[in-house]
Amino acid sequence: MVKREKLDAALAKFYEQGPVSNRLQEAILYSIHAGGKRIRPLILLETLEGFGITLKESHYQVAAALEMVHTGSLIHDDLPAMDDDDYRRGRLTNHKQFDEATAILAGDSLFLDPYGLITQTDLKSETIVALIAELSQAAGTFGMVGGQMLDIEGEEQALTLEQVYAIHSHKTGKLLAFPFKAAGIIAEQDSDILAKLEKVGLLVGTSFQVRDDILDLTASFADLGKTPQKDLTAQKATYPSLLGLDESYRILNDSLDRAEVIFQKLKADKGFIPDKILEILERLRLYA
Ligand code: IPE
Ligand code: IPE
Ligand code: MG
Ligand code: MG
Ligand code: MG
Repeated sequence: MVKREKLDAALAKFYEQGPVSNRLQEAILYSIHAGGKRIRPLILLETLEGFGITLKESHYQVAAALEMVHTGSLIHDDLPAMDDDDYRRGRLTNHKQFDEATAILAGDSLFLDPYGLITQTDLKSETIVALIAELSQAAGTFGMVGGQMLDIEGEEQALTLEQVYAIHSHKTGKLLAFPFKAAGIIAEQDSDILAKLEKVGLLVGTSFQVRDDILDLTASFADLGKTPQKDLTAQKATYPSLLGLDESYRILNDSLDRAEVIFQKLKADKGFIPDKILEILERLRLYA
């Protein structure tokens, strides 16, 4: 089985224990199995292999936990009170397919279940505690949720670049930085390497939102699986709206350059094997 299939199997397995509510379970699995790009879990798995770790079930469980938080964030992001979107991952959004209450609860489940899933792994207790602490910071008030609040507050406002950076780095950057750092924690790397992984993660994570904002303007429904040009109508504070498309492409590619330099240095100094991670980063580049 390839990584994606093993990840999907870990996600499915967690929800195999008999459901309390069939409808809730159905709504969760509807969004989980809607076919996202799975970039966050893949970054975790490829970074682990870069440290020479042989992947085992517990690594897929941590990757699944991360994808669950991310999927929950998308379900809530699409709600009428948030971005009010009808399509996600090429199908109707969760609240359109089910209803708002069910979508809210499916998101709640996907925010809370991951912590239980991480405790089910056979990783060392210290590693489990460190991963839970890190995921909570990346996802909650000080991470994704905090950033989503800034994003909503920033609608129809003229923001500075620093303010837009604060939105992007929290709503998207933190959860994308998690897999780099989590791989370092699992691979028992020292604090110097963990700091480098966090730095690289934030660079990649923030540029991922710049990329998403560029695609919102330039890509089609068929490519995105979600309605394009939503940021314009909602008057979202984005890099393209503040700096224009050309400068946004430049910032995206420049951040990826800087991330790649850090990985080349980890290769030279610490024997990290960056090839697969660099392939993922190269696929994020966009050109006018
Ligand atoms: C979309 O994330 C939301 C952002 C944080 C920009 P992805 O582009 O990773 O969405 P999926 O998982 O592939 O659907
Ligand atoms: C979403 O940013 C960030 C999340 C935390 C989900 P967007 O609102 O731009 O994501 P899309 O474009 O709806 O996927
Ligand atoms: Mg949003
Ligand atoms: Mg949105
Ligand atoms: Mg977007």
